[in-house]
Order: sequence, then structure tokens, then C-alpha cells
Amino acid sequence: EAELYSEYKGVYVPKILHPPECLKYYEEFDFRQDDIFVVTYPKSGTTWMQEIVPLIQSEGDMAAVLTLPNWDRMPWMEEHRANVLNLEQRPSPRMFTTHFHYSMMPPSYFKVKPKVIYVMRNPKDVFTSSFHYYGMASYLVDPGTADEFMDKFLSGKVMFGSWFDHVKGWLNAEDQDRVMYISYEEMILDLKASVTKMSRFLGKSLSEEVIAKIADHCTFKNMKQNKMSNYSMVPVEFMDQKKSEFLRKGIAGDWKNLFTEAQTEKFNAIYKEKMKDVKFTFFWDL
Ligand code: PPS
Repeated sequence: EAELYSEYKGVYVPKILHPPECLKYYEEFDFRQDDIFVVTYPKSGTTWMQEIVPLIQSEGDMAAVLTLPNWDRMPWMEEHRANVLNLEQRPSPRMFTTHFHYSMMPPSYFKVKPKVIYVMRNPKDVFTSSFHYYGMASYLVDPGTADEFMDKFLSGKVMFGSWFDHVKGWLNAEDQDRVMYISYEEMILDLKASVTKMSRFLGKSLSEEVIAKIADHCTFKNMKQNKMSNYSMVPVEFMDQKKSEFLRKGIAGDWKNLFTEAQTEKFNAIYKEKMKDVKFTFFWDL
């Protein structure tokens, strides 16, 4: 673990993706009020949002999503290369991604309060997606067995720490009018309605036709074909998509194909305990 991860503000971050100079750059970055942040715990729908939000902003113009890789189009502020993308010069509204917990956000975020879309996913599916991903990405610690990985996941000894802390922190964010909550499951159920909801929050009124075009481009099947979004440009030494594809299954409920009964019980018990004070009505069937 110590070899591949460092600890930043109390959570593990993969060393290779988050060199100190980049974390410092983020810490000191000046945000604008009209910046847009997509915030996720890893494997909750980040890449999907990096396709949808730019298309809402461009009102359906495909140029950006067909020519810029997702990590340039909507960069992770905490990742390597954010500091060389000339983000200061980008026209408003700028679009960013982050996996940071609410408590990790840098000072300018709290001062300026850019808009945030917070995407949540059934933690059992987050676990399942992560389990496959940790097995194929060389910058992450090998997951071991599902039992072993479950212990790590439930105790937050994985990249970006505890799912529970992440979700609870963002659900309790101040200035709730600046945050929109949506779930992966809602997007699976009705992508057009989800795109409509997001575009309203972002202050864009788009025609039915444009919404339909965006939703169609952002289906799992179509996004898998977009080499600017399917991670096919990443070297195999870094991500071995022969082991498990980045855009792997794209469904809700795949945990049922992985969890044993004992694992389900264990997960449910910890979920119940950790989430007992949370009032929010989640969209998923745990
Ligand atoms: S990361 O590493 O944090 O950026 O990963 P992230 O993009 O958040 O999560 C990857 C999972 O999202 C699925 N995905 C999609 N599902 C449905 N439709 C679309 N268009 C889509 N794009 C990405 C992807 O397949 C991963 O989930 P799993 O369950 O592993 O398939």
C-alpha cells in the first residue's frame, strides 16, 4: 500500500496520479462562481458525466467530446497535468471533476462556491466496479479476493477513502442551492430526464431534440465507441483492458453477480450502521 498510495488529508490517493505539486496547484487554485464541478466517489459515474456536462454546455455540439479526451475536457483538479492545462485561461463556464471529499475541498471553493453536481451510486455497485478496476489498473493495490477487498472498502482503506464519509460529507454540504444531487441509478432509469434536470440546474434551456441527441450519444454502447472517453489511449501497462474494460458493464445491480449471501449480509449491516443518521432518500435498492 505504502508503495502505491500516499495519504492526503486523511485518505489514500494513488501516488502516480497525484504528485505533490498538483495537489498544491489545486489547493491554491482560484475558482470562479460560474465554474461547474462534477464530484464523485470513484466508479460512481464520473466518465459518464464528463461526456454529458460538456454536451449540455455546448448545446449538443459534439466537437469537444469527439476531439478532447475526457481528462482534458473536464479535468480532475487533483490529478497530474491539471496544472499544465492552462485552466486559468479557459473561458467560463469552466468544467472540472474531483473525487475530493467535501472536507478536502480547497479554500477558494468555499469562498466562491461554484456549482456542484454530486453523483452517487449504489455502494454495492461501486464496490463491484472498483473490484474489477483495481484488478486491471496497475497504479492501484491488487484487490485480492472479494472478501479481502470488501474489508478494505468498508473500512475506507482504498483510494479516496470511505464511500460512507464521502457521501455523508457532500450530503451535508452548506449552500444546498449550489449543489445538485443525482444518482447513477436515476441516469440508468431515464437518461433524458436526468439530462433535463442537469441542464436546468446549469441554467441551460435545451430543446427536446438536443436533449434526445445528448442522451443518445451518452448511452453506454455509444460511449464505448468514443475513443476520447473509453480510455483506449491509456497504455496497457497502466490499465489492462483485456483484464477488465473501463466501460465494463454499465448497469445497475451487477453486485448481484458477485456478492455471496454472507457478503451481502455483512455489507448491509455496515451500511445500516454507518448510514443510520442520514435522512436522504436514495434512489437505489440496496
Ligand atoms: S472513475 O475511475 O472514477 O473515473 O470511474 P467512473 O467513470 O466514475 O465509473 C466507471 C463506471 O461507470 C460506468 N459507465 C457507464 N455506465 C452507464 N452508461 C454510461 N454511458 C457509462 N459510462 C461509464 C462504467 O462502465 C463503470 O461501471 P461498471 O459497473 O464497472 O461497468
